Amino acid sequence: MKKNILITGGAGFIGSHVVRLFVNKYPEYHVVNLDSLTYAGNLENLKDIEKATNYTFVKGDITDEAFINQLFEQYHFEGVIHLAAESHVDRSITDPLAFAKTNILGTMVLLNAFKKLWTNNWTGKRFYHISTDEVYGTLGETGLFTETTPYDPNSPYSASKASSDHFVRAYGETYGLPYVITNCSNNYGPNQFPEKLIPLFIHNIINQKALPVYGDGKYTRDWLYVVDHAVAINLVYHQGKNHETYNIGGFNEWQNIDLIKVLCQQMDNKLGRPEGTSEQLITYVKDRPGHDLRYAIDASKINQELGWKPSVSFEEGLSKTIDWYLSNTEWLAHVTSGTYQEYYQKQYKQ
Ligand code: NAD
Ligand code: DAU
Repeated sequence: MKKNILITGGAGFIGSHVVRLFVNKYPEYHVVNLDSLTYAGNLENLKDIEKATNYTFVKGDITDEAFINQLFEQYHFEGVIHLAAESHVDRSITDPLAFAKTNILGTMVLLNAFKKLWTNNWTGKRFYHISTDEVYGTLGETGLFTETTPYDPNSPYSASKASSDHFVRAYGETYGLPYVITNCSNNYGPNQFPEKLIPLFIHNIINQKALPVYGDGKYTRDWLYVVDHAVAINLVYHQGKNHETYNIGGFNEWQNIDLIKVLCQQMDNKLGRPEGTSEQLITYVKDRPGHDLRYAIDASKINQELGWKPSVSFEEGLSKTIDWYLSNTEWLAHVTSGTYQEYYQKQYKQ
């Protein structure tokens, strides 16, 4: 009998890399990928493993309590890796309720289903909640987020993620539910929906459209290649300590405008356009409300306790990412047709 593992949000950006890693690495597991396929979920991300015998895709919503309870009864999941979420800060500013529903209520529905199935019999079970560094709020020009930095979320997205983290922890304290949480910095890489900075700008450069830089462009993020995040998730799932949280980061801080200029140079190079062509597309636009100035992670706990560190340099990761988008133009065309256009017009008022 294979061990049934539930991965939620596995058709999304990070989730698809996690599903691929688990399906390929663990033939002894049966991986169930539960995803409601919102605009951000895309089964094209998993074409290479969709026929694997240790993999099943289930379309469903984590907020649907009856459905989720029935799924847990059917598969008796021993482990849950929970990534399903509304994940884009800008969308949380225009539709905060959708974020509360999926990110808070959805997480609680999963926690309840897990508790209902295993109460008083936790041996070998694990609920792994994937979270974000944004729960810590913003840093000034110096300092790093550690696992003990107080929560101080500023956007509806980060408030909903912070709330879900608290519920996971509370289920651990109150019911003994064996959980682990990781808080990760900004991911980039193949399969990221082109609403987030790097894939949006790659898409716009290909199409010679304006590159909308929020505010003065001096905001700082700590970037991690998505495959390195998936590797960390595998490690924490198998070796992390129960009732612990781990920060995951890239040791790789960039001010947005500096990153954008490097991206422009690499794109000009790869597209055979004269140097400086893409930089001319940079357009400063209205700032994001409540925009966090700087995120930066102290990832020494996961490094010292589990031996994890990023393996892909930013230069290499960015180059691989651009190459992936340039050779997956059909993927890009599919996800940017239809409702993407409506979102884009509204967000950037063009
Ligand atoms: P994503 O938006 O690309 O994917 C989210 C997935 O969840 C999609 O496939 C979507 O269809 C699915 N989903 C959404 N609502 C659902 C629902 N109600 N029921 C079932 N499925 C639903 O997100 P991502 O960037 O891959 O992020 C995955 C997780 O990692 C999120 O929890 C996010 O908060 C966290 N995270 C992301 C980053 C980042 O830089 N992208 C960094 C740290 C943490
Ligand atoms: O830190 C982890 C978080 O990183 C994750 O939890 C989120 O799910 C993920 O979306 C990401 O949040 P950010 O808000 O940092 O990512 P985003 O790509 O939206 O923006 C990165 C920076 O670029 C930020 O300072 C805002 C800026 N930006 C973004 C967009 C989309 C622009 O200047 N212009 C843009 O059009």
